[in-house]
Amino acid sequence: MHKVLITHQLPGDKIHELSSSSEVTVWMGPGLLGAEALREELKDCVGVVCMLADRIDEKLLDACPQLKFISSMSVGVDHIDVAAASERSIAVGNTPGVLVETTADATFALLLAASRRIAEADLYVRGGHWSDENAWSPDFFVGKDVAGATLGIIGLGEVGKAVSRRAKGFGMRVLGWNHREKSVAGIESVSLEQLLNDSDFVCITIALAKETRHLIDADKLALMKHDAVLINTSRGGIVDEEALVDALVNGRLGSAALDVFAREPLAADHPLVRLPNVVLTPHIGSATHDTRCKMADMAAANALAALSEQPMPSCVNPEVYER
Ligand code: GLV
Repeated sequence: MHKVLITHQLPGDKIHELSSSSEVTVWMGPGLLGAEALREELKDCVGVVCMLADRIDEKLLDACPQLKFISSMSVGVDHIDVAAASERSIAVGNTPGVLVETTADATFALLLAASRRIAEADLYVRGGHWSDENAWSPDFFVGKDVAGATLGIIGLGEVGKAVSRRAKGFGMRVLGWNHREKSVAGIESVSLEQLLNDSDFVCITIALAKETRHLIDADKLALMKHDAVLINTSRGGIVDEEALVDALVNGRLGSAALDVFAREPLAADHPLVRLPNVVLTPHIGSATHDTRCKMADMAAANALAALSEQPMPSCVNPEVYER
């Protein structure tokens, strides 16, 4: 029987169907498979169901000559060298759609948390600092209004559009910029520069690719309002983190709310961790029970299709089927 590796225990039922047509190995942890262990486990597999934290590069593909499919339980596939997979006729699957509303909720939760300093205020109360001398005052934990403010959305894919729907409910004006020009009803299409200039809140929902790496660098951050809030639930690599820290420390940017980082997990001694004007979450944009089950089912459906030599229902390199 063909061997398939699943790099993490998965929720949902569909994943169990894989064992009727293949010999399945599930990595039970603790933690993730390291690069070397992944190479060792994958070397004679025809397929892998992987997570976004598993790096699948050309070197790994070279070490796995039997590999026919990679099914990632994620919408983003920047952890996979898709071009190298295509060259080797390896189909790559992902899980778009099912996580859109959940990720938009998380994006908006971060926007609200940063604007009203929720994480900072929570720490303040827990830390026992809320005392009689500091019971209440007009300038106590003042934040920034969301209603009526301008939101700029970088990336007008499904998550960007879902964020915009939420923003409309808050009476916000919504500006949008997309890497490939795109017009979306209810979103004013503007240049990236104008979006950064005019927005009180900027959400990044664009995918990470060669052309979007460090899209938000020191020059772009300098265009933003000094009290603006930057929210990123896409990929850390889109923002130049060093430049972001600099802007936050030097008062050139109001605050940031970040779910994703250039290097994950974020090191406990990373400069971002010391900044009070930053809300940090550990890459949990799609983390609800239902959504994670749907993503696992979709990853399983992609793997099952590949095992029966059918096109994956959601494939990012369908050109492999044209050969
Ligand atoms: C989450 O970041 C995903 O790509 O699914």
